[in-house]
Amino acid sequence: MTEPLDLFAEAPDLDTIREQAAACTRCELYEHSTQTVFGVGPTRARLVMVGEQPGDQEDRQGAPFVGPAGRLLDQALDAAGIARDDAYVTNAVKHFNFRYQGKRRIHETPKAPHITACRPWLEAELAAVAPQVLLTLGATAGKSLLGAKFRITAERGEPRSWNDMTLVPTIHPSAILRADRARGQDRDEMMAGFVADLEVAGGLLVARG
Ligand code: URA
Repeated sequence: MTEPLDLFAEAPDLDTIREQAAACTRCELYEHSTQTVFGVGPTRARLVMVGEQPGDQEDRQGAPFVGPAGRLLDQALDAAGIARDDAYVTNAVKHFNFRYQGKRRIHETPKAPHITACRPWLEAELAAVAPQVLLTLGATAGKSLLGAKFRITAERGEPRSWNDMTLVPTIHPSAILRADRARGQDRDEMMAGFVADLEVAGGLLVARG
């Protein structure tokens, strides 16, 4: 098993953490996924966005948010006036958790032990990038950084201090993709709420002198 905590005492840079994470066997998810999907973006980004875990496309391509949820995230960031290229984008869990349905790989929500096993990588990324603002997308990312009691519906859009950063929790873009009218969910309304949360995060960014 890789032991990143020993390494992290040295406050490593992102390249070192990426290299270590590529060989991660801290939980069983590495066994069936294609690769570790590490974060992408500027080393000193002012904004870090944390998703849940790579999906099918991300697992194949080796980069976060490059599939359908990523395209919706891009639209929302555009609407909120945030340039994705200025942000560092990563996930709470860095291997794809799925089950087979025939030949299709179906997303499975990561379990608490997967989140715990992966947290040292996320913490190391956050320490290396040291952003001003941290945006968690969905319940898994919120729970990873705020604990198991985190509740997305009650806490979204409300900034709070997290170490030396300001954390803004919001929903996951996949929730909008899955919006279900039968359950009273309106896709446009959900998108507007998501953009509003992104605007809260964007409004907290301070220009660097
Ligand atoms: N969903 C996530 O949470 N992360 C990704 O990278 C892709 C989809």
